[in-house]
Amino acid sequence: MAATRHARLKAFAKLNLDLKVLNRGADGFHELRSVFQTVSVFDTIDIAFTPGRKTELTLDDPGAIPDNLATRAAQLLLDHVGGTGRVEMRLTKRIPVGAGMGGGSADAAAVLLGLPVLAGWRIPLEALIDIGGRLGSDVPFFLLGGAAVAIGRGTELYPLPDLLAARVLIVKPKVHVSTPEAYRAFARDSHGKLTEAQRIQYIDSFQSRVWGLGDSLSASGTGTQVENDFEGVVFPRHPQLKSILKNLQKSGADPARMTGSGSALFGVFTTQNQVRQAQAACETLRPKPATLPATFVSRSRYRAAWWRQLQEHMDGNKDGKQWPPQSRYALRRRNER
Ligand code: C5P
Repeated sequence: MAATRHARLKAFAKLNLDLKVLNRGADGFHELRSVFQTVSVFDTIDIAFTPGRKTELTLDDPGAIPDNLATRAAQLLLDHVGGTGRVEMRLTKRIPVGAGMGGGSADAAAVLLGLPVLAGWRIPLEALIDIGGRLGSDVPFFLLGGAAVAIGRGTELYPLPDLLAARVLIVKPKVHVSTPEAYRAFARDSHGKLTEAQRIQYIDSFQSRVWGLGDSLSASGTGTQVENDFEGVVFPRHPQLKSILKNLQKSGADPARMTGSGSALFGVFTTQNQVRQAQAACETLRPKPATLPATFVSRSRYRAAWWRQLQEHMDGNKDGKQWPPQSRYALRRRNER
């Protein structure tokens, strides 16, 4: 029987540093403007691939998340390449669920990046992005990492220069927010469609905030202006979130916001002392939220982590590193023919 190949993959979480929701399109998705940033909180996926004619797909997930995106990602890849083999995965969750940190999407993207390298499938980035978009709006971002502007339904992404490797405190209250429900509430509360003039005004203000964010976080400046449209619908339903935001701000967070459709919030700080102070302040709240100190993960750090964790399975003949990581087994298979 063919040898099993395994890897331990880190699936990093994201924050939305800014999030503007525009109109709902004919496809049922809302048009967005957002800034995504990967952070150092991660799930771990142990993944093993054994070549073979029979396909078996298993996921050991202690959280027993129904219809797990990681399994669906593996299945879509097998369908895409018309491949077979045994795929065994074990998921260790650290990214809070229902937090707006893209945990499920990060896991799915980790499978999309890692499994082809173990299995010897050469799949171009644009095909992976297409498969990712079918799994969920946040998945394509995790195929790229770092800081990026997202437009459309969130799957069209453009790279931003690395922001300062800031210290972040992520605070997750014991509240689970469902993304579809948050969008529905948003559509109700904002009374339907924006006029074209409002839409243009929102895009203009997003654009100027992104320029300000780059200048401010690159130079560790202060007064960073960012927004999250979901706060307007999620805060009134869960008053603790406002208290967390105030605590982060009082401890010197700049900026401090909710991420995605919540319920996690984050504060960006310049000193470790401020992080500790914010953590202590948030931990006095009842019910006590979880606090996760983290850092931004730049695109170069993100890629380095991926190359490291797949190193023994990667194609080392190429000059420099390739993105997405490429398999050495694909080459061998060609030579063996
Ligand atoms: O793509 P994803 O599975 O994350 O989306 C979950 C739900 O969130 C969608 O079914 C849709 O109701 C809503 N959504 C949206 N507009 C987006 C992204 C998500 O309305 N851009």
